[in-house]
Amino acid sequence: MDKKLVVGNWKMNLLREEARELSGALVNLLGEGYDACQVVLAPPYTALEVVRNCISASNVDLGAQNVFGEVRGAFTGEVSASMLVDAGCRWVIIGHSERRHILGETNEQIREKVSLSISCGLKIILCVGETEAQREEAIRKSEDVLTRRRFLFSPIRTQMESALRSLDEKQVSDIAIAYEPVWAIGTGKTATSLEIAEIHQYIRELLTEMFPGSGNNVRILYGGSVKTCNIEDIVSVEEVDGVLVGGASLSVDSFFKIIKSVGG
Ligand code: 13P
Repeated sequence: MDKKLVVGNWKMNLLREEARELSGALVNLLGEGYDACQVVLAPPYTALEVVRNCISASNVDLGAQNVFGEVRGAFTGEVSASMLVDAGCRWVIIGHSERRHILGETNEQIREKVSLSISCGLKIILCVGETEAQREEAIRKSEDVLTRRRFLFSPIRTQMESALRSLDEKQVSDIAIAYEPVWAIGTGKTATSLEIAEIHQYIRELLTEMFPGSGNNVRILYGGSVKTCNIEDIVSVEEVDGVLVGGASLSVDSFFKIIKSVGG
């Protein structure tokens, strides 16, 4: 498996000057040759170019937060996978819960985004995770452990099977799965080590069932209120191959500490 992966998802934050300062300061702190883990910055589209310039001499990669599922054409306001490559992106986040739940993105749209992005050579961070209501329903319906797990895992199975079904063994090695329980995003609530381990093990089982040849090499990240105060616990979970960080990636001090905790 590749090195652990730390992704900073800036969401709809930072003007270009702020983006320049943050990415420049991060590269200074890490040092240009830092490669103990793979670091990816995903700024808003408007800041892709300034961040690309700041990180160009380092091992930090550029990522986008979204992409459209068509090659080109009359889709006002959208950005294609080849445009992201042209802007210097190596990565794209697809299926983030804010896009699924606030912007109504469907599993079918996510599948199209995945397959077009792969065909353009982008690496993908595919987000999956259950809502609070889905987790509570699983607990309520659970007569036994197996039933509880079946209900808990079901939304994740649906999201993954739908997004990955058209990929082959080679293509799936360009994907990282980010398990982000929706109830933990931006709330300060984090899944416990046991909860993370349980879902990551399930995601691994599903990956190896779908891709017997390469499912074991796909990195599985955790996301949802990752902070300096909980990163040590999260990264000590054996099944965690990296983290997807929102709020704490907007401060150079906290993001640097998180990277160092993951990579050393
Ligand atoms: P927070 O780290 O702010 O909870 O956001 C997580 C997230 O959505 C990263 O993609």
